[in-house]
Amino acid sequence: MVSTGTSERLIGALNGTFGTHKGCRASHAKGLSVSGTFVPGGDVDRMDIPMLHGDPMPVSARFSIGGGNPGVSDKSRSVRGMGLTIGGKDENWSLALISAPVFFASSLEQFVAFLEARRPVPELGGPDPERVAAFNAVNPNTVPHQAYVKETSPTRSYGTEVYHSCHAFFATIAGAARAGRFRLEPATGRLSLSADEEASFPDQFLGDELANRLTDGPVGWTLMLDLAHSDDPLDDPTAPWQGNGESLTLGTILISRIADLAEERRVYDPLVLPNGIAPSADPVLLARSEAYSLSYERRSIA
Ligand code: HEM
Repeated sequence: MVSTGTSERLIGALNGTFGTHKGCRASHAKGLSVSGTFVPGGDVDRMDIPMLHGDPMPVSARFSIGGGNPGVSDKSRSVRGMGLTIGGKDENWSLALISAPVFFASSLEQFVAFLEARRPVPELGGPDPERVAAFNAVNPNTVPHQAYVKETSPTRSYGTEVYHSCHAFFATIAGAARAGRFRLEPATGRLSLSADEEASFPDQFLGDELANRLTDGPVGWTLMLDLAHSDDPLDDPTAPWQGNGESLTLGTILISRIADLAEERRVYDPLVLPNGIAPSADPVLLARSEAYSLSYERRSIA
Protein backbone atom coordinates (compact mmCIF):
# COMPACT_ATOMS: atom_id res chain seq x y z
CA MET A 1 0.00 0.00 0.00
CA VAL A 2 1.36 3.39 -1.01
CA SER A 3 0.69 6.47 1.13
CA THR A 4 -1.42 9.39 -0.09
CA GLY A 5 1.67 11.59 0.33
CA THR A 6 3.48 9.44 -2.23
CA SER A 7 0.60 9.68 -4.70
CA GLU A 8 0.52 13.46 -4.17
CA ARG A 9 4.18 13.59 -5.18
CA LEU A 10 3.66 11.38 -8.25
CA ILE A 11 0.67 13.40 -9.46
CA GLY A 12 2.48 16.63 -8.56
CA ALA A 13 5.40 15.59 -10.80
CA LEU A 14 3.00 14.91 -13.70
CA ASN A 15 1.20 18.24 -13.15
CA GLY A 16 4.53 20.08 -12.90
CA THR A 17 5.55 18.92 -16.37
CA PHE A 18 2.19 18.82 -18.17
CA GLY A 19 0.13 21.37 -16.23
CA THR A 20 -3.22 20.82 -14.48
CA HIS A 21 -6.21 20.45 -16.80
CA LYS A 22 -9.68 20.52 -15.26
CA GLY A 23 -11.60 17.26 -15.61
CA CYS A 24 -8.62 15.45 -17.21
CA ARG A 25 -6.47 12.53 -16.15
CA ALA A 26 -3.07 13.58 -14.72
CA SER A 27 -1.52 11.26 -17.33
CA HIS A 28 -2.92 9.96 -20.63
CA ALA A 29 -5.16 13.04 -20.57
CA LYS A 30 -6.13 12.75 -24.24
CA GLY A 31 -8.07 9.64 -25.11
CA LEU A 32 -11.13 7.93 -26.46
CA SER A 33 -13.36 5.32 -24.76
CA VAL A 34 -14.56 2.25 -26.64
CA SER A 35 -16.18 -1.10 -25.95
CA GLY A 36 -16.14 -4.63 -27.27
CA THR A 37 -15.69 -8.28 -26.37
CA PHE A 38 -13.01 -10.68 -25.11
CA VAL A 39 -13.10 -14.12 -26.68
CA PRO A 40 -11.04 -16.61 -24.60
CA GLY A 41 -8.92 -18.98 -26.68
CA GLY A 42 -5.47 -20.32 -27.49
CA ASP A 43 -3.63 -21.63 -24.42
CA VAL A 44 -6.10 -20.32 -21.87
CA ASP A 45 -7.41 -23.78 -20.98
CA ARG A 46 -3.89 -24.68 -19.77
CA MET A 47 -3.95 -21.67 -17.44
CA ASP A 48 -5.65 -21.68 -14.03
CA ILE A 49 -7.54 -18.41 -14.53
CA PRO A 50 -11.17 -19.46 -13.93
CA MET A 51 -12.64 -16.13 -15.09
CA LEU A 52 -11.29 -16.78 -18.60
CA HIS A 53 -12.68 -20.30 -18.94
CA GLY A 54 -15.96 -19.85 -20.66
CA ASP A 55 -17.98 -17.67 -22.97
CA PRO A 56 -16.98 -14.36 -24.51
CA MET A 57 -17.30 -11.45 -22.08
CA PRO A 58 -17.65 -7.66 -22.36
CA VAL A 59 -14.69 -5.29 -22.56
CA SER A 60 -14.56 -1.56 -21.76
CA ALA A 61 -11.45 0.16 -23.01
CA ARG A 62 -9.82 3.53 -23.59
CA PHE A 63 -7.13 4.47 -26.09
CA SER A 64 -4.89 7.39 -25.16
CA ILE A 65 -1.74 9.35 -25.75
CA GLY A 66 0.90 9.41 -23.00
CA GLY A 67 1.40 12.51 -20.87
CA GLY A 68 -0.93 14.94 -19.18
CA ASN A 69 -1.58 17.35 -22.07
CA PRO A 70 -5.13 16.92 -23.44
CA GLY A 71 -4.22 18.96 -26.54
CA VAL A 72 -1.19 16.87 -27.56
CA SER A 73 -0.77 16.01 -31.25
CA ASP A 74 -1.81 12.54 -32.43
CA LYS A 75 1.52 12.47 -34.26
CA SER A 76 3.64 13.09 -31.17
CA ARG A 77 6.58 10.78 -30.58
CA SER A 78 5.30 9.56 -27.23
CA VAL A 79 3.56 6.40 -26.09
CA ARG A 80 0.01 5.39 -26.97
CA GLY A 81 -1.99 3.76 -24.18
CA MET A 82 -4.77 1.23 -23.88
CA GLY A 83 -6.70 0.76 -20.67
CA LEU A 84 -9.10 -2.17 -20.62
CA THR A 85 -11.38 -3.97 -18.25
CA ILE A 86 -12.46 -7.46 -19.13
CA GLY A 87 -15.67 -8.19 -17.26
CA GLY A 88 -16.45 -11.68 -16.10
CA LYS A 89 -19.68 -12.69 -14.34
CA ASP A 90 -18.11 -12.46 -10.89
CA GLU A 91 -14.68 -10.96 -11.51
CA ASN A 92 -13.03 -8.17 -13.50
CA TRP A 93 -9.54 -7.85 -14.91
CA SER A 94 -8.08 -4.42 -15.69
CA LEU A 95 -4.94 -3.66 -17.65
CA ALA A 96 -3.38 -0.32 -18.59
CA LEU A 97 -0.75 -0.88 -21.27
CA ILE A 98 1.56 1.30 -23.36
CA SER A 99 3.04 1.03 -26.84
CA ALA A 100 6.65 0.90 -25.59
CA PRO A 101 7.91 -2.51 -24.42
CA VAL A 102 9.61 -0.91 -21.39
CA PHE A 103 8.71 1.95 -19.03
CA PHE A 104 10.72 5.08 -18.18
CA ALA A 105 11.26 4.54 -14.44
CA SER A 106 12.07 1.63 -12.15
CA SER A 107 11.30 3.42 -8.87
CA LEU A 108 8.99 6.16 -7.68
CA GLU A 109 11.95 8.48 -7.04
CA GLN A 110 13.07 7.97 -10.63
CA PHE A 111 9.53 8.62 -11.94
CA VAL A 112 9.51 12.00 -10.16
CA ALA A 113 13.09 12.88 -11.17
CA PHE A 114 12.44 11.92 -14.83
CA LEU A 115 9.47 14.30 -15.00
CA GLU A 116 11.21 17.06 -13.05
CA ALA A 117 14.13 16.96 -15.49
CA ARG A 118 11.63 17.55 -18.32
CA ARG A 119 9.72 20.45 -16.78
CA PRO A 120 9.29 23.12 -19.45
CA VAL A 121 11.51 26.15 -18.94
CA PRO A 122 9.50 29.25 -19.99
CA GLU A 123 12.50 30.97 -21.64
CA LEU A 124 13.20 27.85 -23.72
CA GLY A 125 9.59 26.99 -24.56
CA GLY A 126 10.26 23.37 -23.53
CA PRO A 127 12.54 21.20 -21.41
CA ASP A 128 16.18 22.16 -20.94
CA PRO A 129 18.15 19.68 -23.12
CA GLU A 130 21.20 19.94 -20.85
CA ARG A 131 19.13 18.96 -17.81
CA VAL A 132 17.63 16.01 -19.73
CA ALA A 133 21.10 14.87 -20.85
CA ALA A 134 22.42 15.13 -17.29
CA PHE A 135 19.47 13.03 -16.01
CA ASN A 136 20.01 10.40 -18.71
CA ALA A 137 23.73 10.16 -17.94
CA VAL A 138 23.05 9.09 -14.35
CA ASN A 139 19.86 7.09 -15.14
CA PRO A 140 20.91 4.86 -18.06
CA ASN A 141 18.14 2.33 -17.32
CA THR A 142 15.58 4.94 -18.53
CA VAL A 143 17.22 5.24 -21.96
CA PRO A 144 15.72 2.13 -23.70
CA HIS A 145 12.21 3.60 -23.25
CA GLN A 146 13.31 7.00 -24.54
CA ALA A 147 15.14 5.44 -27.50
CA TYR A 148 12.06 3.37 -28.45
CA VAL A 149 9.80 6.43 -28.38
CA LYS A 150 12.25 8.62 -30.31
CA GLU A 151 12.95 6.05 -33.01
CA THR A 152 9.42 4.69 -33.55
CA SER A 153 7.13 6.36 -36.08
CA PRO A 154 3.68 7.13 -34.64
CA THR A 155 0.99 4.52 -35.18
CA ARG A 156 -1.46 5.13 -38.04
CA SER A 157 -4.37 3.97 -35.88
CA TYR A 158 -5.12 3.19 -32.25
CA GLY A 159 -6.19 -0.13 -33.79
CA THR A 160 -2.79 -0.93 -35.31
CA GLU A 161 -0.64 -0.43 -32.21
CA VAL A 162 1.04 -3.05 -30.02
CA TYR A 163 0.40 -2.52 -26.30
CA HIS A 164 2.65 -3.85 -23.49
CA SER A 165 2.26 -4.26 -19.72
CA CYS A 166 6.00 -3.54 -19.11
CA HIS A 167 5.46 -4.97 -15.59
CA ALA A 168 5.78 -8.65 -14.83
CA PHE A 169 2.79 -10.59 -13.50
CA PHE A 170 2.47 -14.20 -12.34
CA ALA A 171 -0.04 -16.47 -14.04
CA THR A 172 -0.92 -19.86 -12.61
CA ILE A 173 -0.21 -22.56 -15.18
CA ALA A 174 -0.64 -26.22 -14.26
CA GLY A 175 -0.55 -25.28 -10.57
CA ALA A 176 2.70 -23.24 -10.79
CA ALA A 177 3.11 -19.45 -10.85
CA ARG A 178 4.92 -18.43 -14.07
CA ALA A 179 6.21 -14.89 -14.62
CA GLY A 180 5.55 -13.00 -17.83
CA ARG A 181 4.63 -9.67 -19.37
CA PHE A 182 1.33 -9.14 -21.18
CA ARG A 183 1.19 -7.89 -24.75
CA LEU A 184 -1.67 -7.06 -27.12
CA GLU A 185 -0.70 -7.84 -30.70
CA PRO A 186 -2.91 -6.16 -33.34
CA ALA A 187 -4.45 -8.38 -36.04
CA THR A 188 -2.96 -6.04 -38.67
CA GLY A 189 0.54 -6.16 -37.17
CA ARG A 190 1.94 -2.77 -36.16
CA LEU A 191 1.29 -0.10 -38.81
CA SER A 192 2.92 3.30 -38.53
CA LEU A 193 2.84 6.58 -40.44
CA SER A 194 5.38 7.02 -43.25
CA ALA A 195 7.72 10.01 -42.98
CA ASP A 196 5.57 11.93 -45.51
CA GLU A 197 2.36 11.14 -43.60
CA GLU A 198 3.97 12.13 -40.33
CA ALA A 199 4.75 15.52 -41.89
CA SER A 200 1.40 16.04 -43.64
CA PHE A 201 -1.25 14.46 -41.36
CA PRO A 202 -3.26 16.86 -39.13
CA ASP A 203 -2.63 16.88 -35.39
CA GLN A 204 -6.00 15.29 -34.71
CA PHE A 205 -6.79 12.19 -36.75
CA LEU A 206 -6.83 9.13 -34.48
CA GLY A 207 -10.47 9.55 -33.34
CA ASP A 208 -11.95 9.86 -36.87
CA GLU A 209 -9.62 7.15 -38.15
CA LEU A 210 -10.89 4.69 -35.53
CA ALA A 211 -14.55 5.59 -36.11
CA ASN A 212 -14.05 4.95 -39.86
CA ARG A 213 -12.17 1.71 -39.27
CA LEU A 214 -14.98 0.41 -37.04
CA THR A 215 -17.53 0.83 -39.84
CA ASP A 216 -15.77 -2.17 -41.50
CA GLY A 217 -16.20 -4.32 -38.37
CA PRO A 218 -14.43 -4.92 -35.05
CA VAL A 219 -10.73 -4.19 -34.59
CA GLY A 220 -8.84 -7.09 -33.01
CA TRP A 221 -5.82 -7.97 -30.88
CA THR A 222 -4.44 -11.23 -29.52
CA LEU A 223 -3.74 -11.09 -25.78
CA MET A 224 -0.39 -12.79 -25.12
CA LEU A 225 1.73 -13.56 -22.07
CA ASP A 226 5.46 -13.52 -22.92
CA LEU A 227 7.15 -15.77 -20.36
CA ALA A 228 10.31 -14.56 -18.60
CA HIS A 229 13.78 -16.08 -18.91
CA SER A 230 15.26 -16.99 -15.52
CA ASP A 231 17.69 -14.04 -15.89
CA ASP A 232 14.97 -11.46 -16.65
CA PRO A 233 14.34 -9.08 -13.72
CA LEU A 234 10.75 -9.32 -12.47
CA ASP A 235 10.60 -6.04 -10.57
CA ASP A 236 12.06 -3.61 -13.11
CA PRO A 237 9.74 -2.34 -15.88
CA THR A 238 12.60 -0.43 -17.57
CA ALA A 239 14.59 -3.60 -18.34
CA PRO A 240 14.29 -5.10 -21.83
CA TRP A 241 13.72 -8.87 -21.50
CA GLN A 242 15.20 -11.71 -23.47
CA GLY A 243 12.19 -13.93 -22.58
CA ASN A 244 12.28 -17.73 -22.59
CA GLY A 245 10.95 -17.91 -26.16
CA GLU A 246 7.48 -19.01 -25.05
CA SER A 247 4.39 -16.82 -25.51
CA LEU A 248 0.98 -18.02 -24.38
CA THR A 249 -2.23 -16.86 -26.04
CA LEU A 250 -5.15 -16.02 -23.75
CA GLY A 251 -7.71 -14.94 -26.35
CA THR A 252 -8.82 -12.13 -28.63
CA ILE A 253 -9.91 -8.59 -27.82
CA LEU A 254 -12.44 -7.25 -30.33
CA ILE A 255 -13.26 -3.54 -30.12
CA SER A 256 -16.50 -2.79 -31.92
CA ARG A 257 -17.79 0.67 -30.96
CA ILE A 258 -16.91 4.12 -29.65
CA ALA A 259 -18.40 4.42 -26.16
CA ASP A 260 -20.57 7.11 -24.60
CA LEU A 261 -18.82 10.07 -23.04
CA ALA A 262 -19.84 8.78 -19.58
CA GLU A 263 -17.34 5.92 -20.04
CA GLU A 264 -14.50 8.49 -19.93
CA ARG A 265 -14.89 8.47 -16.15
CA ARG A 266 -13.69 4.88 -15.76
CA VAL A 267 -10.42 4.04 -14.01
CA TYR A 268 -8.19 1.29 -15.41
CA ASP A 269 -6.34 0.08 -12.31
CA PRO A 270 -3.71 -2.54 -13.22
CA LEU A 271 -4.02 -4.17 -9.79
CA VAL A 272 -7.62 -5.29 -10.41
CA LEU A 273 -6.69 -8.89 -11.20
CA PRO A 274 -8.69 -12.11 -11.49
CA ASN A 275 -7.91 -15.29 -9.54
CA GLY A 276 -4.94 -16.94 -11.19
CA ILE A 277 -3.04 -13.72 -11.98
CA ALA A 278 -0.89 -12.05 -9.30
CA PRO A 279 1.23 -8.88 -9.35
CA SER A 280 5.05 -8.95 -9.20
CA ALA A 281 6.89 -6.97 -6.53
CA ASP A 282 7.63 -4.17 -9.04
CA PRO A 283 7.39 -0.98 -6.90
CA VAL A 284 6.13 1.04 -9.89
CA LEU A 285 3.24 -1.38 -10.44
CA LEU A 286 2.35 -1.38 -6.75
CA ALA A 287 2.12 2.44 -6.65
CA ARG A 288 -0.30 2.79 -9.53
CA SER A 289 -3.66 2.04 -7.84
CA GLU A 290 -3.35 4.85 -5.31
CA ALA A 291 -2.08 7.35 -7.87
CA TYR A 292 -4.95 6.51 -10.26
CA SER A 293 -7.49 6.91 -7.43
CA LEU A 294 -6.12 10.34 -6.57
CA SER A 295 -6.19 11.40 -10.22
CA TYR A 296 -9.77 10.10 -10.47
CA GLU A 297 -10.79 12.06 -7.36
CA ARG A 298 -9.30 15.27 -8.77
CA ARG A 299 -10.69 14.91 -12.28
CA SER A 300 -14.16 14.19 -10.83
CA ILE A 301 -14.38 17.54 -9.02
CA ALA A 302 -16.87 19.63 -10.98
C1 HEM B 1 4.49 5.16 -10.77
C2 HEM B 1 4.19 4.99 -12.06
C3 HEM B 1 2.98 5.57 -12.69
C4 HEM B 1 2.20 6.62 -12.31
C5 HEM B 1 2.37 7.51 -11.07
C6 HEM B 1 1.15 6.76 -13.28
C7 HEM B 1 0.15 7.71 -13.22
C8 HEM B 1 -0.97 7.70 -14.00
C9 HEM B 1 -2.15 8.50 -13.75
C10 HEM B 1 -2.31 9.48 -12.60
C11 HEM B 1 -3.06 8.21 -14.72
C12 HEM B 1 -4.48 8.75 -14.85
C13 HEM B 1 -5.41 7.83 -14.04
C14 HEM B 1 -6.85 8.25 -14.05
O1 HEM B 1 -7.16 9.44 -13.84
O2 HEM B 1 -7.72 7.36 -14.24
C15 HEM B 1 -2.45 7.23 -15.58
C16 HEM B 1 -3.05 6.68 -16.68
C17 HEM B 1 -2.49 5.69 -17.45
N1 HEM B 1 -1.28 5.06 -17.25
FE1 HEM B 1 -0.01 5.41 -15.75
N2 HEM B 1 1.29 5.79 -14.23
C18 HEM B 1 2.40 5.04 -13.92
C19 HEM B 1 2.90 3.99 -14.61
C20 HEM B 1 2.35 3.47 -15.76
C21 HEM B 1 2.84 2.33 -16.47
C22 HEM B 1 4.06 1.50 -16.04
C23 HEM B 1 2.01 2.13 -17.54
C24 HEM B 1 2.04 1.06 -18.60
C25 HEM B 1 3.06 0.26 -18.80
C26 HEM B 1 1.00 3.15 -17.50
C27 HEM B 1 -0.05 3.28 -18.40
C28 HEM B 1 -1.11 4.14 -18.24
C29 HEM B 1 -2.26 4.16 -19.14
C30 HEM B 1 -2.48 3.31 -20.38
C31 HEM B 1 -3.11 5.13 -18.63
C32 HEM B 1 -4.45 5.56 -19.20
C33 HEM B 1 -5.56 4.70 -18.64
C34 HEM B 1 -6.93 5.26 -19.03
O3 HEM B 1 -7.16 5.43 -20.24
O4 HEM B 1 -7.72 5.55 -18.13
N3 HEM B 1 1.22 3.94 -16.41
N4 HEM B 1 -1.18 6.93 -15.13
